[in-house]
Amino acid sequence: FEWLDGRPSKQRLLVVANRLPVSAIRKGEDSWQLEVSVGGLVTALLGVKEFEARWIGWAGVNVPDEIGQRALTKALAEKRCIPVFLDEEIVHQYYNGYCNNILWPLFHYLGLPQEDRLATTRSFQSQFDAYKKANQMFADVVNEHYEEGDVVWCHDYHLMFLPKCLKEYNSKMKVGWFLHTPFPSSEIHRTLPSRSELLRSVLAADLVGFHTYDYARHFVSACTRILGLEGTPEGVENQGKLTRVAAFPIGIDSDRFIRALELPQVQEHMKELKERFSDRKVMLGVDRLDMIKGIPQKILAFEKFLEENPNWRDKVVLLQIAVPTRTDVPEYQKLTSQVHEIVGRINGKFGTLTAVPIHHLDRSLDFHALCALYAVTDVALVTSLRDGMNLVSYEFVACQASKKGVLILSEFAGAAQSLGAGAILVNPWNITEVANSIGYALNMPPDEREKRHWHNFMHVTTHTSQEWAETFVSELNDTILEAQLRTKQ
Ligand code: ADP
Ligand code: G6P
Repeated sequence: FEWLDGRPSKQRLLVVANRLPVSAIRKGEDSWQLEVSVGGLVTALLGVKEFEARWIGWAGVNVPDEIGQRALTKALAEKRCIPVFLDEEIVHQYYNGYCNNILWPLFHYLGLPQEDRLATTRSFQSQFDAYKKANQMFADVVNEHYEEGDVVWCHDYHLMFLPKCLKEYNSKMKVGWFLHTPFPSSEIHRTLPSRSELLRSVLAADLVGFHTYDYARHFVSACTRILGLEGTPEGVENQGKLTRVAAFPIGIDSDRFIRALELPQVQEHMKELKERFSDRKVMLGVDRLDMIKGIPQKILAFEKFLEENPNWRDKVVLLQIAVPTRTDVPEYQKLTSQVHEIVGRINGKFGTLTAVPIHHLDRSLDFHALCALYAVTDVALVTSLRDGMNLVSYEFVACQASKKGVLILSEFAGAAQSLGAGAILVNPWNITEVANSIGYALNMPPDEREKRHWHNFMHVTTHTSQEWAETFVSELNDTILEAQLRTKQ
């Protein structure tokens, strides 16, 4: 039973994700600037501390030359990051194509490409080949850096093929895979031409994790209905091998946000914002500019609210901070112009010479500015059409201890299952319902706001990213111990 005699307190963890927590910008032949990447996966994993972790992934940039690659590898090593170099063609076919034009929309119930996206379907096979090739490149780098005993934790829809590649290298490698998006109903997943191959590859992992119980259940039924395998309460059985499947709801490093609010620069920023909007209630949206976030729907609901409540027109402002993302994918380019068009029209309709109802920023805010903004907000609007979890809603709650603002939250975000009792839940497709909820939130009495806020605050501060990672890794260790015990018996 030597494997029960405790584990090293700091277990070596290889985190493998398409995107590294820092993105690189080239400043010269051999000099690089590193910036923190934006997205829920990065936010959650940056909060994970109790491991001796190394991060393997793509730095978001094409580096064709050896001098550049060597210099970037060195710069990243200081951040415990190891790069996977992907050339332009692979990025085009694997990242822009298969990941973000096929898997991402499908997993968020937006379906496979249709009409003008049909051209993509024709190149489906070459994109899937590129996807597999890219996954193999990630596996090669993992294999190069792997040491016996390491836990290898693969992340997200970009790397569904990775568990299989890793086990082919070394069947004893401890491999976990976690999906940061929803896993859709098996009826949606079965439309994917490569549905079986992807499921089988994921099943090569020892532990497969999702944000919610529903996503885990969808995955198990996809395996039973599409692959004909047996689903059990523990996971999926395949030729005597059990792949454990479970829900591990993610969280944030809530203390980091709470502490930041005490910093002088954040306080100063809050003061400026309060002065700037002293005569208005502040509503806030913070999203990547992605079609799943329901940004046009959110803005149209705000328009409807202003139309129906003329008394609020000069008393409320919507700040929509939307950082551009995946800008080489045509659907995302279309979304940008659509959002600009709607915002322009509404500001033209309800704006005055001195004020506009919507401030739309197409950029990312630094951490301190973001915290200040969350703290001065009266009502946050999260209207995702589908969302794996949505950490923006958690961040808002963490920053609201003194204001106790209201969260309007889509029932289609994973967070609806954890923050549902404190938030006002809405169907983002129902513009009238969202508009009415805005009115309800703005007029909510303080005791109701307080009660709702504390419910959510308790959840956000007790279900942290640290706890999420520890639970996943310990479950992975246990799963492997149990499998070893079974084979010894
Ligand atoms: P997703 O992972 O789909 O982007 P989440 O809501 O889970 O959605 O996570 C988004 C993360 O990115 C959050 O940590 C949020 O603070 C950050 N983020 C999103 N938009 C911006 C922005 N405009 N500026 C700065 N950070 C942003
Ligand atoms: C979501 C995905 C992440 C991704 C992030 C940002 O959170 O689950 O895997 O990193 O969006 O998207 P990007 O394409 O810029 O990495």
